[in-house]
Amino acid sequence: MDADTQHLIQITDPHIGPRRDYRLAGVETLETLRLVLAEIGGFTAPPDLICVTGDIAAEGATEAYRLFTQQMQFLELPYQWLPGNHDDARVIQEGFTAAPYWPLLELGAWRVISLNTAQPDAVGGHLADDELDFLAHCLTRDPLSPTLLFMHHPPIPVGCAWLDTQRIDNAERLEAILRQHANVRGIFTGHVHQEFHAHWAGTELYTTPATCFQFRAASRDFALSEQPPGYRRINLHADGTLTTEVVFLAQGLTRVDKQLAGY
Ligand SMILES: [Fe+2]
Repeated sequence: MDADTQHLIQITDPHIGPRRDYRLAGVETLETLRLVLAEIGGFTAPPDLICVTGDIAAEGATEAYRLFTQQMQFLELPYQWLPGNHDDARVIQEGFTAAPYWPLLELGAWRVISLNTAQPDAVGGHLADDELDFLAHCLTRDPLSPTLLFMHHPPIPVGCAWLDTQRIDNAERLEAILRQHANVRGIFTGHVHQEFHAHWAGTELYTTPATCFQFRAASRDFALSEQPPGYRRINLHADGTLTTEVVFLAQGLTRVDKQLAGY
């Protein structure tokens, strides 16, 4: 393993409830997060950073953030987060996670930018002027460092009609900024509870499975899959290239309730 390589882990969409035994679609979401974190905690080379890309809480409850933070602290690894549509960004920032919101991080030669695509009381994604200005500013100020972008919602369709209406509704503005810069090496999102990859806006877009249940790929209407909880490894090499792979837990879900009509 190259000593100059930065090792990131993306975890996404934990959907933690207000109680330990909370279930969503029959899945104990705190338990599946715990299983994912236990696997990460067992790596021989611990990751340099864990990026949590939103929907930390299922219902934005304060207690859910306390339970999430407790699990992350057991791991004793640095992490950062950004909000999703199920989160209450104000509740998170009031101190219920130990890690502050860090929209720009330096990691060796790399820069890691987080954008907030969540809007109050809406399921779909949107990039406010402040977020787009922040991105444009970061990329203009530092046009050479290889850079990653993390967001909750994807900017383009992933092939599920019911989810695709929830993508960032002004992604053409994001695309215009990205096309002016050559140093964004990848965009990583959550929200869609499935693995997807596409070349877009002169860079690579990746979505990542949730730490709870997954949605069925290529489904027109809401549908769950039986894939187990997952996460993504991202290796940032000193020469500005990256390698990435999705990892699913070896054990399947014992109780995914497919009767759920929506979430
Ligand atoms: Fe979401």
